[in-house]
Amino acid sequence: METKFKLKQSDKVVVLTGAGISAESGLKTFRDHDGLWENHRVERVATPEAFQSNPELVWKFYKQRYFQLPEVKPNPGHFALKKLEDYLEKNFFIITQNVDGLHYLVGNERVLEMHGSLRRSFCSKCKSKFKMEEIDLSPAIPVCEKCGGNIRPDIVWFGEMPYFLDEIDEILRKADYFLVVGTSGTVYPAAQFLNITKYNGAFTIGVNLEKPLNVDFIDEFHKGKSGEILPKLVDIWIGK
Ligand code: APR
Repeated sequence: METKFKLKQSDKVVVLTGAGISAESGLKTFRDHDGLWENHRVERVATPEAFQSNPELVWKFYKQRYFQLPEVKPNPGHFALKKLEDYLEKNFFIITQNVDGLHYLVGNERVLEMHGSLRRSFCSKCKSKFKMEEIDLSPAIPVCEKCGGNIRPDIVWFGEMPYFLDEIDEILRKADYFLVVGTSGTVYPAAQFLNITKYNGAFTIGVNLEKPLNVDFIDEFHKGKSGEILPKLVDIWIGK
């Protein structure tokens, strides 16, 4: 395993993860099965308009993914990033596009879930927040106990503003190293994080099954499975 550098504990390292880091945990990526779910385009289901016009269908999609989670186990790629946070502490951040919560499950704490989480929901009327396990999911559309409004999954849908963008922008500009794992680089704004970090002088590394769209901004690219590559890279980087 060839890599061009070693890390000091004072180095600021930011990681962007996408669906690919959870593929070896058994979760389909978005571009794997050409974005279809029960013959619905994901983009058709994961939108505010879909929730407005057919909330039952949208809840069916998210309940199915949520109830799958107990069988979904973190893989060596997730554990490698936990090891990296243990080494770098406050100089480490994970920005994830994933909503499966697996980074938290392995003990990472410095995680920004920019697209929300399957494990959270909120009332579309009074905006009260709920953990998914706190609400009654038996009705076709779960109802808010506080105001009677329709509860929705706490997922950032197409056309909605991702979470933490101001914090993410600040973190990206200060990064010494930016590592992109398991993302196709097709969805904005995450797809431009490579440009921002490179422009601000970071060394960029990519780990992906195939070359992502924005591979030209990657200084060191490792083609393959993150579950196999990341543990080896992290051990070299932290001098284990
Ligand atoms: N290891 C590393 N990379 C992998 C692996 C693996 N085991 N398996 C697949 N990949 C790569 C694929 O080659 C692909 O480039 O992961 C990438 C997954 O890309 P997408 O399916 O586009 O997922 P992602 O980039 O996370 O999508 C971004 O799009 O649909 C929206 O909001 C959704 O967060 C999602 C966003």
